[in-house]
Amino acid sequence: MSTSLRVGIAGLGTVGASVIRLLDRQAAALAARTGRSIKVAAVSARDRSRERGVDLGSAVWFDDPVALAASDEIDLFVELVGGDEGPARAAVETALASGKPVVTANKALLAKHGMALARLAESQRVALAFEASVAGGIPIVKTLREGLAGNEISRVYGILNGTCNYILSRMERESLSFEACLAEAQRLGYAEADPTFDIGGFDTAHKLSILTSLAFGTAVDAEAIHIEGINTITLDDLRSADELGYRIKLLGVAQRTADGIEQRVHPTMVPKSSAIAQVMGVTNAVTIDADAVKELTLVGPGAGGEATASAVVADIADVARGIRSAPFGLPTAALEVAPRRAMQRHEGGYYIRLSVHDRPGAAANIAMRMAERQISLESIMQKSPGRARSDGSSGAPVQVVLLTYATSEAKVREALEAAVGDGYIAEKPQVIRIERE
Ligand code: HSE
Repeated sequence: MSTSLRVGIAGLGTVGASVIRLLDRQAAALAARTGRSIKVAAVSARDRSRERGVDLGSAVWFDDPVALAASDEIDLFVELVGGDEGPARAAVETALASGKPVVTANKALLAKHGMALARLAESQRVALAFEASVAGGIPIVKTLREGLAGNEISRVYGILNGTCNYILSRMERESLSFEACLAEAQRLGYAEADPTFDIGGFDTAHKLSILTSLAFGTAVDAEAIHIEGINTITLDDLRSADELGYRIKLLGVAQRTADGIEQRVHPTMVPKSSAIAQVMGVTNAVTIDADAVKELTLVGPGAGGEATASAVVADIADVARGIRSAPFGLPTAALEVAPRRAMQRHEGGYYIRLSVHDRPGAAANIAMRMAERQISLESIMQKSPGRARSDGSSGAPVQVVLLTYATSEAKVREALEAAVGDGYIAEKPQVIRIERE
């Protein structure tokens, strides 16, 4: 057997500790599969005294992850610190610049600096591997980069944030408040350190930017993503969706269109019969539409120590085998800078919930504003008005839910702006896009 692979791990939180346990538990199998033993030679974390429930053995301790990245004690640097700047970025750059392969789970870093880091890895002829950065334990990076190399991909979309899916699933099933579900997700360790990254859609966007590059051979362009979070979703929306035959999921969607790449993250109505609608709790799912394979959906654990460690260890095993793929599937110079498709040009069906002053002519006015823009309505549902007055109104606003057939974002926004201006609508309209299979 050839020499051991000496691994340095920076960041000993849930994932870091799980990686050490998994490397230990699978040591014999990994040595057999890769032809080398894999040894945790050095580690770094903020607090040396913290009890982590792992045996660090003879690993050398570094207080500074950048010093670890530069050290001759290791052959491979594993970055599990997190954050798109600071020590994580500095350590990854240092490791690559000193000719060491890097394995990272850091989606924020890749979304922001992925191209520069891939160029650095390329120039140093070392691996930059990031299977754990998207969808936890689901091997979606390898699937897109290697498994589907013979396909032309037209769309990739999925549930990429376990915390949001957990919150929406529990709200829907148990009629619990958003806040109660978020607190539970934090207690279970699914949420990011700052949960606005999860619920605001930013974590999903980071992951989507990586998938888009791999799927379409384009330069990572996280700035192009239209982002909406789940904080505006109410129990009323979840119930209305249910009545209409849909579920609401936070999706990241990337689609190639004739005039550019559309990348968007937003709460989405998906038909209850679809594969993605069955995915509940912290589970993630990614669906790929491609010419040869047609439709492929991968479902699995999107967060949590062991699941994410599974992806980190797979990348470590690749390095042990001497595998060095182009990080985003193509040499960086060949990654296309694709035109961005503006969200206003998005086409699809819409769910619109309006809080309407219950007066004669209100429904007719809203329908007129839609019809003026050739928006065709699939369904209109008015929710239980209060006790009627002598003029036929109930006094309090009523909830009106509309479903449209396919139309454009621009038309929907214009129609709603006009209807709000007409004075029948009491609150900001709720708009949720519908994604068809
Ligand atoms: N906070 C993330 C999630 C963890 O909830 O999916 C994995 O990236």
